[in-house]
Amino acid sequence: MAGRIPDQFIDELLARTDLTDVVASRISLKKTGQNYSALCPFHNEKSPSFSLNPNKQFYYCFGCGAGGNAISFVMEYDHLDFVDAIETLAKDAGMEVPREQGAPDRYEQNAELLKRLSESSQFYQQQLTQHPDKKKATDYLSKDRGLSGQIAKVFGLGYAPPGWDNLLRAVGTRAESQEQLLLGGMLIEKKDQQGQYYDRFRDRIIFPIRDSRGRVIAFGGRAFGDEKPKYLNSPETPVFQKSQELYGLFEAKQNTPILDQILVVEGYMDVIVLAQHGITNAVATLGTSVNSQHIRKLFKLVSKVVLCFDGDKAGRAAAIRGLEASLPVMQDEKQIRFLFLPDGEDPDSLVRKEGKEAFNHRLEDASSLSHVLFEHARNQVTLGDEEGEAQFARNAMEMIQQIPNELTFRSVLIRQLSEQSGIDKETLSNTVFKTRRPAPSTSADSYPTPQAPHNNDEHPNLSHYADEPPVGEYDDYQSSAELPSASTYQHATSSIKKPFVKKPFSGKNGKFYKDEPAPLPPAAPSIGRIKQASLCLLLHPHIAQKIDLPDPIVNQANEDLQVFCKLWRYFAKHPNKNTGHFLGESTDSATIAAVYALLNHKDAATKQKIDNAHQEVLDMISMMEKNLGLNSSIARLKSKGNESIKDTSSKQELRNLMDLIRQKKH
Ligand code: UTP
Ligand code: MN
Repeated sequence: MAGRIPDQFIDELLARTDLTDVVASRISLKKTGQNYSALCPFHNEKSPSFSLNPNKQFYYCFGCGAGGNAISFVMEYDHLDFVDAIETLAKDAGMEVPREQGAPDRYEQNAELLKRLSESSQFYQQQLTQHPDKKKATDYLSKDRGLSGQIAKVFGLGYAPPGWDNLLRAVGTRAESQEQLLLGGMLIEKKDQQGQYYDRFRDRIIFPIRDSRGRVIAFGGRAFGDEKPKYLNSPETPVFQKSQELYGLFEAKQNTPILDQILVVEGYMDVIVLAQHGITNAVATLGTSVNSQHIRKLFKLVSKVVLCFDGDKAGRAAAIRGLEASLPVMQDEKQIRFLFLPDGEDPDSLVRKEGKEAFNHRLEDASSLSHVLFEHARNQVTLGDEEGEAQFARNAMEMIQQIPNELTFRSVLIRQLSEQSGIDKETLSNTVFKTRRPAPSTSADSYPTPQAPHNNDEHPNLSHYADEPPVGEYDDYQSSAELPSASTYQHATSSIKKPFVKKPFSGKNGKFYKDEPAPLPPAAPSIGRIKQASLCLLLHPHIAQKIDLPDPIVNQANEDLQVFCKLWRYFAKHPNKNTGHFLGESTDSATIAAVYALLNHKDAATKQKIDNAHQEVLDMISMMEKNLGLNSSIARLKSKGNESIKDTSSKQELRNLMDLIRQKKH
C-alpha cells in the first residue's frame, strides 16, 4: 500500500543525487566555467541557452525559462509525474522509496488486474513469434500493412490465435487469475455455465492499449479479413475508460525527442504507420470523437494539438465535434489546429503514399481553430443579406461564448468577428446568445451503435466449437451495463465511474458543460484547504489565469495563504511557466521548502489527475471570503473560468460585491 513519501526521504534523495549526472545521462552537457551549458531539451534551439549550476543543483534555460532541480528535470524530460520522477531517481541512486500509510490509489487497488493484463499482452506478443500459425499474423503485419518488426515491438503488437481458450489456459490458470481476466474484459462467461469462461479475443491482431505511464490497461483486436467487427475492443473496466484514453500517448512520449505538438488521429493503424514513418507524435481516440477531456489531457503535455480528420462529410462533422470539445478547454498560449485529409485517405494510407515530408507539410498547413469556427458559422447561414450576416454573427458567437470568459483568445475572436460582421465588439460580447445545439458530450461515439443482431444472451454453444460462426462477439459498442454480469465486475465498475452531474451553481443561464466533471465530494481533510489549493496551482498552473484574488485575501498574514498568493501571482504573470520554473527562479528558501513539502504530499499524486482543480481553488477562495465576512459568491462571479458572466444582473451583482469589499477595506 503506497502512501505519502516522507519529506526526509526526498531531502536525502536530492542530497544523494547529482543533478549533473541526471542531466548528463539524458542530454550532452558542456562545461563552461563553473557551470555547464547545453542545447535546451525543452524547446528547439540552435545555440545553447540551457545552463546548469552544479553547486546550487539547479538548471535554468534562458530561452524558454524551464528550470528547477533534479526532480523537476526528470518530471519534464521523462514526462513523469512527481511520484514517478522520485521513483526514477531513487532507482538510479539505489534507494527504495519508503511510503507512509495512506489510501491506495486506483492502480494499487487494481494491481492484480494490471498484472494479468500485462501477462496477457506478453502472451499475445509471444504468439506472434512462436505460434505454429504465426506466419498468418506476421504476413498480415508486414505484407498487408507494411509494418516492420521493430515498430510492432515498440507498440507491443501481438497475435490472438484462433481458439476459445488460449489465453484462458496460458494466463487464467487459477480461479483468481480467471476472475481478474474476466474483470479486465479478457474473458467472457459462457451462457448458462456460471464460472466457465472463453477468450474474448480470438483470431485477431492484438493492439495493447497502454495508459500514459505505459501500463497495459486494455486491448484492441483487428480481424484479419472482413469479419465484423473489424476492431474488437476491451469493454470499460476498472482501469479502462475508453473516452478518456488516447492510444499511443505513452509511445509518443517515449519516442519523440521534443514533444511539443501532438497529432490526434482516428485509428490504431494510423498511429503506428505514422510512427514507422518517423511521425512519432500521433495518438488516436478509441472509437470515440475527440472530447474535452482528451484535449485537457494533451494540453498538460504539449501546447500544440492538431486534430486530424478525413476530408469527407463524416470527417467534417467529426471536426465540428472536435471544435466544440476544444472551445471550453482552450487556454491562451495553447493552440489547436485542424488537418483535413483528402477524401478517401487516412493518415496511414497518406503517409505511405506521400512520405513523411509531404505529410509534415500538410501538418504545417493545418487550419487554425478560428478559421474552422468562422467557416462553420458561415456554412450554416442560409441567406445572403443582412439577416444572413446576423445569422453568421450569432452562429459564431454561440461558439465563441464557449471559450473561457477572459482568455485573450476569446477577445481576439470577437474582434475578428466584429471585423467580419460589422457588428461592434461590445454588442457582440454583451448579447446573450442562446446555444441551440447541445453541449459536446464526453462519450460522443463517432461509431454509431450497430444494429447488432446479437446480444449478451448469445454466447457460443460450445458443442459447435470448431465451426462457431464469427458472430457472437462482444464488440466495444456496448456500455458497461450490458457486460457479462459477474457481480464482482459490476461492483468494481460502479465504484469507479460515476456519471457526471450538473454543477450545482451553473448560474442564471444554466450554462454548464456536460463534460465538466461535477465537484467531487469533499475528501477527508488531510492538509488544509489553502495548502490543497496551493497544490492545485502547483500541479495545474494554468488555473492561476482563471482566478482573481480579492485584496482582503491577499492582505492576510497567513503563511499558507502567502505561499498560495506567491504561486498565483507568478503563474498568473507567466502563463506558460510551470512549477519547475517557479522553483528555478524563486530565491526565497522558505517558499521553496514549502513548495517541496506540498509537492511531496501524498495528495500530490491525486491532485495531478483531478479535473476539478480549478473548482477546488475557487472553493478555497470562497471559504476565505466567508471567513472574512465577504460575500462568497464573488469568487465565482469573478472567476475567469467556465462560468461566463453574460447577464447584466450578474454583472451588477459583481459590481455590488466589489463595492462591498472596498467599503470593508476602508
Ligand atoms: P477505421 O474504420 O477508420 O479503421 O476505424 P482504420 O483505423 O483505418 O483501420 P484499418 O486501417 O482498416 O485497419 C478507426 C478506429 O475506430 C475504431 C478503432 O479504434 C479504429 O482504430 N473502430 C473501428 C472500432 O472500435 N471498431 C470497429 O469495428 C471499427
Ligand atoms: Mn486505415
